[in-house]
Amino acid sequence: MPEFDLIVIGSGPGGYVAAIRAAQLGLKTALVEKDKTLGGTCLNIGCIPSKALLNSSHHFAFAQHEAASHGVVVGDVKLDLPAMLKRKDATVKQLTGGVAFLMKKNGVTVYQGTGKIAAAGQVTVARNDGGTEELKTKHILLATGSVPIALPSMPVDGKTVVTSTEALAFDQVPARMVVIGGGAIGLELGSVWARLGAKVEVVEFLPRIAVGFDLELANGLQKALEKEGLKFYLDTKVGAVETKEGKATVRATGKDGREFALEADKVLVSVGRRATLGDAVPESLGLALDERKRVKVDAHFRTNIAGIYAIGDVIAGPMLAHKAEEEGVACVEMIAGKAGHVNYDVIPGVIYTHPELAGVGLTEDAAKEQGIAVKIGKFPFAANGRALASDSAVGTVKIVADAKTDKLLGAHILSAAASELIAEIVAVMEFGGSVEDVARTVHAHPTLSEAVKEAALAVDKRSIHAANR
Ligand code: FAD
Ligand code: NAI
Repeated sequence: MPEFDLIVIGSGPGGYVAAIRAAQLGLKTALVEKDKTLGGTCLNIGCIPSKALLNSSHHFAFAQHEAASHGVVVGDVKLDLPAMLKRKDATVKQLTGGVAFLMKKNGVTVYQGTGKIAAAGQVTVARNDGGTEELKTKHILLATGSVPIALPSMPVDGKTVVTSTEALAFDQVPARMVVIGGGAIGLELGSVWARLGAKVEVVEFLPRIAVGFDLELANGLQKALEKEGLKFYLDTKVGAVETKEGKATVRATGKDGREFALEADKVLVSVGRRATLGDAVPESLGLALDERKRVKVDAHFRTNIAGIYAIGDVIAGPMLAHKAEEEGVACVEMIAGKAGHVNYDVIPGVIYTHPELAGVGLTEDAAKEQGIAVKIGKFPFAANGRALASDSAVGTVKIVADAKTDKLLGAHILSAAASELIAEIVAVMEFGGSVEDVARTVHAHPTLSEAVKEAALAVDKRSIHAANR
């Protein structure tokens, strides 16, 4: 029977990164994955294909609506959807293949099949080719991820009523699309299909979109998306979704109690994801789960069963690829006797629409709720030279500082490339830095990043290129 130091079940960003780090630390490591390709949700049906389509659809919208104002005449702009989907698939293939290559290079043994924990220290793999593999190991890491939440009132049939997986591969642009849930998936994929010509209507239960992000900037994003053609029904409850002959009717009740129906060719159900163990753990093992069926772990990612650990979407916390990766690294470092650590106060979140919405640390509202006195500095991209020169003047940087100590507590950015701009703030926060540190740092001119510096200056009402109020 093959014997390992560590068997990782699940090859998403949590699992495959953990496997690489374990191999680097000298642990004899195996990775078990039930899908045909490695990379999990993120690489196959999540982060990567969605960003590929966001990029392509942005180019399409640019060619249609903006190129002319730059003096670029492109004539009759046409959509070649099969080509767009092919490019997305090629990107996914390149990256999942890259993970397989990295496994080889690091000496990680990959098993293609469904991993099941027979007992602590024992994993059975039901191989995809029909065989079975019995493996022995000192440690087991569960990185089985998450799946879309399904609600009985909106039965997903994979054709008319779909999840993100199918919405990444529609073979034609739906004339009308209803998105249920104004979170990351709904906004990103709603944007993609709106840019490609669909009439997209987003129904959100709460009175706002992009929960968890700064409210003022989320409202700014909503306005930008409305310009892109999306229509929002906020504070609206979905009653039932019915399908007939390839069309759907979404029945909803608005905040005024008025009932109405939306007709659609496609309904995207994006109301969140839930942790899954993917058949890896028989109930008889007695693995402790929390109230949302996520695996309970301690600060060392240890479950209640000795030798079994869990990371990523299957445990509590934001369901983000980079959070899963950091946990994977920290977990195996601790298994290897080192000091692994994840700083949960400094995990950035991004919605990759246009403009992008990024945030890290405390929002102004969260600080108030926690009774922390804060100072706020804001700077609009409309006053940033690079943003104006590149037609990206929509958006704002908002910085949250401790009123007493000037410590940088959070930052929120609505802009083109906000996903990249937020990295500076993450680094300064990681070092426990102050707003003054950002304000005194030289930023290249002309760059969008100067808006971050200006927002830091604005905390003490001394930004240079905007009136300080
Ligand atoms: P997963 O990536 O879900 O991987 C789990 C793996 O375990 C899967 O491959 C599964 O097949 C395998 N598995 C499960 N059970 C077994 C078993 N018994 N045996 C063998 N294998 C098993 N996050 C971001 O940070 N940025 C983004 O831009 C982003 N975009 C997203 C877009 C979409 C459309 C979606 C759906 C998600 C997106 N996410 C994004 C979230 C991100 O994909 C997840 O947070 C991340 O993939 C979680 O990683 P994980 O390793 O915990 O699990
Ligand atoms: P989400 O949790 O981001 O948003 C779900 C939204 O649906 C919420 O606003 C919620 O209020 C709303 N909702 C819930 N039930 C509803 C109902 N019955 N009717 C109307 N609205 C309802 O979940 P989403 O968008 O499905 O994404 C799942 C996970 O994937 C997220 O946790 C996210 O972190 C991750 N993800 C991350 C991305 C990124 O980092 N850019 C991109 C896509 C997904």
